[in-house]
Formats: sequence, structure tokens, C-alpha cells
Amino acid sequence: QTGLVTLDSGYGNTAAYKSAITYLDGEEGILRYRGYPIEQIAERGSFLETAYLLINGELPTVDELAAFSDEITQHTLLHEDVKRFYDGFPRDAHPMAMVSSVVSALSTFYQDSLSPFDEQQRHISTVRLLAKLPTIAAYAYKKAIGHPFVYPSNDLGYVENFLRMTFSVPAQEYDPDPVVVGALDKLLMLHADHEQNCSTSTVRLVGSSQANLFVSISSGINALWGPLHGGANQAVLEMLEDIQASGGNVATFIRKVKNREDGAKLMGFGHRVYKNFDPRAKIIKAAAHDVLSALGKSDELLDIALALEEQALADDYFVERKLYPNVDFYTGLIYRAMGFPTTMFTVLFALGRLPGWIAHWHEMIKEPGGRIGRPRQVYTGVELRDYVPLEAR
Ligand code: SDX
Repeated sequence: QTGLVTLDSGYGNTAAYKSAITYLDGEEGILRYRGYPIEQIAERGSFLETAYLLINGELPTVDELAAFSDEITQHTLLHEDVKRFYDGFPRDAHPMAMVSSVVSALSTFYQDSLSPFDEQQRHISTVRLLAKLPTIAAYAYKKAIGHPFVYPSNDLGYVENFLRMTFSVPAQEYDPDPVVVGALDKLLMLHADHEQNCSTSTVRLVGSSQANLFVSISSGINALWGPLHGGANQAVLEMLEDIQASGGNVATFIRKVKNREDGAKLMGFGHRVYKNFDPRAKIIKAAAHDVLSALGKSDELLDIALALEEQALADDYFVERKLYPNVDFYTGLIYRAMGFPTTMFTVLFALGRLPGWIAHWHEMIKEPGGRIGRPRQVYTGVELRDYVPLEAR
């Protein structure tokens, strides 16, 4: 059984979801997708295989994965009218705003297949979202830089297709570097699900009203945008660039954070659940080194990030508060080395998280006797009182 249950968390009853998709242990730094350790999946899997696992509950066979991938390939193209949405956005619109708007608008193009209670309609909506989000994301980037949109190709794999749509220009085809393809595929896997994080719980709550999958996912994209959540990967790079611009003095910045000057936070550090290392951060930190050296790139910001991490982990202020690097601390350095602007970093997080959001929406909508989400509250306002007429106030 999944659904909403109340658990005595030791802080009085707190409502909690039950789910069979992802297991986290914040104290031990454990993360498993459908029982498989994230370390093994990241090492040996692929993003589409991980998407299949999260949504269907089992690893696919060779034939199942091929059929899943082929079906997605057939749906990567967007209706030509969808392109007009981008004409209406200002040039400096944030890609996250464009992506969530277009995903929501997809529900207007598939009005005959939005029912959450029809298995075939749930399936085709799932395939369309997995297939079209990379196209929507790439188009948002092209809009932001004023380049022509590049159509998807059926001859390329999922990640290659996205990279080509993003970085190809009419005068120069983008030839995806295998290092970039492998690193991005791994990063998408590492972001694929994370239990009841803010955006996933948003998708479940919106979906529990029986709203369709497209608008539920659009709600998740909006929740992810916040700098305390997925927006942190962009905020980390901006933090590192600020430190670099002010002379690269890490100790000065750490002092600002500890003194809470101007609300300074060590972005990419801390977590609601992990009070130890985020297992994803360890894998991503190693990947950052591998990608930068494989691309022959050095990045002073990586040196600043390493110095920040070293000093924070040796500082009681952070140790006492159990603040460790999270998934967002190193990802931006890799995305930057791949050629993405900081405004696309959270869009890349959304691309990775999409299968997790979809898996949770399916789990929620198929829950027997599923009910609309309705968080309870503790009322802290004034007690009963009588109305005072305007003239008597
Ligand atoms: C993601 O939930 C998920 O699973 C999310 C995610 C996923 O995969 O979906 O893992 C992805 O969102 C990762 C988190 C990315 N966000 C950031 O990196 C932003 C910076 N981090 C923080 O804002 C904060 O750590 C949170 C929001 C992530 C967690 O906040 P909590 O658990 O509510 O912690 P808290 O605010 O109660 O902080 C406890 C103490 C406080 O100090 P005191 O008031 O007790 O003295 O730690 C301090 C906070 O001020 N603190 C920080 C800090 N994070 C917490 N101080 C400095 N820098 C930080 N980053």
C-alpha cells in the first residue's frame, strides 16, 4: 500500500507518504532506486534504463529497453504551433519559466489523452513528456541566445539528441563528445529521483486532485526552480563567481556565512534529509575532475569549490549543523565545462528528475482509494471574536 500515513516522528505526528520507488537513509547517506544502490546504477546503468526502472519498478530486458527507447524517439518532435509560445517570451526570460509554461501548454495539444484513469492515455502522456522535454529545453536555450531551433533527429540517442538540439547551429553541426554524453547521462541518472523532495511532493499533491500529468509535472518544474531546491545548482556557480570576483578569498566568504551577513548561505551545502554526505555529491565530485581533465579544461571555480568544501568540513559551524555538500555543489562546474550557461543548470536538473516525478505521479494515481492531498494545519491565529462595524473601529 502506498499513500499518506501519519508517522510518529518523535516530533509529534507528522504526515508522511508511503512509497515503493526510492529509499533514502539520511544518516547513513544511502540512496536506492527500486532497491538498487545509486552507486551501482550510476556506474553501470543509463538514463533511459533508470527512467524505465523508476516508472515500471524493474530493470528492463534488452528488448524492453529497445522498445522503450524507440517509442520515445518517435515522439521527440513538437507540434509546430508549440514554437509560437517561444515567440511570446521576452529574450531574457528564464528557461525554467519557458519550460514549465510549455509543458503545461502541452495539455492543450493532447486533450483526448489526458485521463489519469486510462492506462493507454497515462502511457502515451508519459512517453510524450520523456520524449519532448529535451526538445522543449533545447528550444528554451535557443530562444535565450537568439539562435534558430534545431529539430530532433531519430538517428541519435536520448542525450546526444538533446546536446545536438542545444549546441548545433546552421553553420556548424555539434558533434557530441563521448565524454560529455557519458557525463550528462550519469548526471541525469543521479538526479532521476529523490523520494519526497519539494518538487516531487508537489507533483503528487497537484496530481492528487486528478489534474493531468502535464500540469502536474509543470508544477514540479516550478517548485524545482527555487534556489533552496533545484535552483541551487545555478546559485552555487553564482556564489563561486562572486568569490572569484572578490579575489577568491574563501575564508572571507565562510566568515560572511557564519556571521549570516546579507543572508549569505553556502549554496550546495546542507540537506533536509542527508545529515551526512549526499552519496550523489561524492560521485559528481569525482565526475567533475574526470570531465574537466578529459575536456582539457581547468576551472579556477573548481579550485574555489574544493577550498570551500575543505574549509567548511573542517569548521565546527558546519560540522555541528551537519552541513555537507549536496547534489548541487559540483554539478554546475560540469555543466559549465559542457558549455551550458548557468540559467540552463536547473533545466538540466528537471530533465533528470522527470522520470522520478512521473513514477510518483503513477504511484499516487494508481493508489487504491486514492484521495486528494489535504495537509492538515495547527491553527495559531486569534480566538473567536465578534465583528466590529467600520464606524466603531
Ligand atoms: C536539493 O529534498 C531533497 O531531496 C532535495 C534534493 C533533491 O534531489 O530533490 O536533494 C535537491 O534541493 C538539494 C538542496 C539544494 N539547496 C541548497 O544547496 C541551498 C542551500 N542549502 C540550504 O538552504 C539548506 O541546507 C536546505 C534548504 C537544503 C535544508 O534546509 P534545512 O534542512 O531546513 O536546514 P535548516 O534551514 O534548518 O538549517 C539548519 C541550520 C540553520 O542554522 P541555525 O539556525 O540552526 O543556526 O543550518 C544552517 C541554518 O541557518 N544552514 C546553512 C545552510 N543550510 C542550513 N548555513 C549556511 N549555508 C547553508 N547552505
